Amino acid sequence: MTYIASANRYQTMQYRRCGNSGIKLPAISLGLWHNFGHVDVADNYRKILHLAFDSGITHFDLANNYGPPPGSAEENFGKILKEDFRDYRDELIISSKAGYTMWPGPYGDWGSKKYLVASLDQSLKRMGLDYVDIFYHHRPDPNTPLEETMAALDLIVRQGKALYVGISNYPAELASKAIKILKDLGTPCLIHQPKYSMFERWVEGGLMNVLGNEGVGCIPFSPLAQGLLTDKYLHGIPEDSRAARPTGFLQKSHITDERLSQIRDLNSLAVQRGQSLAQMALAWILKDERVTSVLIGASRPEQLSDSLRALDNLQFSTEDLAKIEEILAP
Ligand SMILES: NC(=O)c1ccc[n+]([C@@H]2O[C@H](COP(=O)([O-])OP(=O)(O)OC[C@H]3O[C@@H](n4cnc5c(N)ncnc54)[C@H](OP(=O)(O)O)[C@@H]3O)[C@@H](O)[C@H]2O)c1
Repeated sequence: MTYIASANRYQTMQYRRCGNSGIKLPAISLGLWHNFGHVDVADNYRKILHLAFDSGITHFDLANNYGPPPGSAEENFGKILKEDFRDYRDELIISSKAGYTMWPGPYGDWGSKKYLVASLDQSLKRMGLDYVDIFYHHRPDPNTPLEETMAALDLIVRQGKALYVGISNYPAELASKAIKILKDLGTPCLIHQPKYSMFERWVEGGLMNVLGNEGVGCIPFSPLAQGLLTDKYLHGIPEDSRAARPTGFLQKSHITDERLSQIRDLNSLAVQRGQSLAQMALAWILKDERVTSVLIGASRPEQLSDSLRALDNLQFSTEDLAKIEEILAP
């Protein structure tokens, strides 16, 4: 059946300016790291994408290696773009990245100009696009001069293959250097994509100040700590959950008694606030005005609906914030 986007799609989402740029992003964006590969069920991820766009999510985040197998999330997204979102391309901000292992040999990994330019060409082909809106360097490369990696990002924009560029997983000092190089090249850094959640707070130590001072946007990934900051693990590990999968970065061993006790306490506070834990965890990140958008994942439409309702209450009393600090204290 032909997909027609909801006429109400811009009525409930909030949009935030990305740093000092002309671009606004939805307060909640959707990432396709998991659940959109060839191993996943097409009907399910198609529904998630429809719901997202119908709810005002205009930003979809991909990378060369998302799947599994690597590349398959871009292929599947490209297919749905062509079949369902063809008429809406100009309403979408689509991002991709390169920086992790993608193909064999010395040119399919890290941060050389050779790798970044070739990888984006492959991503564009997989998605059937002429350009992406944002192209990221996915992780710092300790062996390639930062100048070369940033020159590759600048080149890609001048080639018209990306409109904006960003960096991901760069620590504060390196981010600061990268931002300066890009500024000097005339291709400003639009956005930084760091891991940030109640359980992973390294950005608070300096990176957020760098981004705020430089007018660079911030889109935290894994804001739900891959599902830990929801109510799903409160009563054991569901068979169809990310932690139950034999591979991946969330393992059963991460769900310790200490973690579970924190999750239980956070969940009680969320319930008192009239929210689900997922909603409170997202609202807690969005309370920082330097955050442009939170980048979530979802394995089914119901999770996305739940997470979207975070926007109904982004306010925290001083008492709630203190209680959260108390729960999170080691
Ligand atoms: N730049 C980078 O290096 C990097 C790294 C990682 C991710 N990312 C980006 O960030 C995006 C999000 O990462 P993420 O998937 O780890 O984010 P996340 O939002 O922290 O975790 C998503 C997972 O949490 C569970 N979940 C989500 N909403 C839920 C809800 N309302 N109730 C119960 N469970 C819920 C689901 O797990 P189940 O599958 O168990 O149902 C879902 O797959 C990725 O898709 C990618 O675009 C970037």
